[in-house]
Amino acid sequence: MKWLAALALALPVVLGSPQGIDVSNYQSDVNWSTVKANGVEFAYIKATEGTSYKNPSFSSQYTGATSAGLIRGSYHFALPDVSSGATQATYFAANGGGWSADGITLPGALDIEYNPYGATCYGLSASAMVAWITDFSNTYHTKTGRYPVIYTTTDWWTTCTGNASGFQNNNPLWIARYSSSIGTLPAGYSYTTFWQFADSGSNGPGDQDLFNGDSAGLARLAKGS
Ligand SMILES: *[C@@H]1O[C@H](CO)[C@@H](O)[C@H](O)[C@H]1NC(C)=O
Ligand SMILES: *[C@@H]1O[C@H](CO)[C@@H](O)[C@H](O)[C@H]1NC(C)=O
Repeated sequence: MKWLAALALALPVVLGSPQGIDVSNYQSDVNWSTVKANGVEFAYIKATEGTSYKNPSFSSQYTGATSAGLIRGSYHFALPDVSSGATQATYFAANGGGWSADGITLPGALDIEYNPYGATCYGLSASAMVAWITDFSNTYHTKTGRYPVIYTTTDWWTTCTGNASGFQNNNPLWIARYSSSIGTLPAGYSYTTFWQFADSGSNGPGDQDLFNGDSAGLARLAKGS
C-alpha cells in the first residue's frame, strides 16, 4: 500500500476524471497517438499571442489531436499592454480560436498570467485589467457563441485584478497550481473546471491537466449544452 499512497500524493489523479495536456510551439512534434494511448482525453493547443504571434505548430498539433480522437481546444496568450481585449479576441477567433458545436471542440481559453516580458500586470491598474478581460470575453462570445475559459493563477489574479469576482457567471476556470492540492481559488469561483497541476508528466509532452468531472461532463462542456 505504501507505493499507492506515494502515487496518490505525486499525481492528483481522480479516478474517472479526464486527463489532458496543453502544448505550444515548445512541444512542436507531439506523438498524439501515444498521448491518446496514455489515456489522455483532451488537449489545449496554443493558437495565438497578442496580435502578432501565431503558433507555427498550431495546425499540425490541432490536426494531430483531432485525428487521435481527442477533444481539443485552443488558447490565446494575452498581452494586455499591446492592444485591446476586443482586438485580441478577434485575432484569436480568426486564427484557430474558433468554436463549433461538433462535440469535440472546447471553448477557447484566455491565458492571462505573469507577463514574461515586463511588468507582472502589464502596467494596467486592477480596474483596467478587469475591463480588458471583460472586453476579450464579450468579444469572443459575440464571435463564437461561447464565453472563453479563463486560465490563470490565483496569485496573479489576486495581484492584477484586485481579486475581482463576477467572471464565474460566464467563464469556466482553468487554474494553474503545481501542487498536490488546488488551494484557494480566485474570488467568486467555488470550483475550477480545469486544473493544470504540473508542467511535465506521464500524460505526454507539455503541461499536465485534469478536468473536474467525468467524460460526459467534458463532452457537455465541448457541446455547450
Ligand atoms: C508514435 O509512437 C508510437 C508508439 O511509440 C509509434 O509506433 C509511432 O510510430 C509514433 N508515430 C510517429 C508519427 O512518430
Ligand atoms: C479573494 O476573494 C475571496 C472571496 O471573497 C476570498 O475568499 C479570498 O480570500 C480572497 N483572496 C485574497 C488573497 O484576498
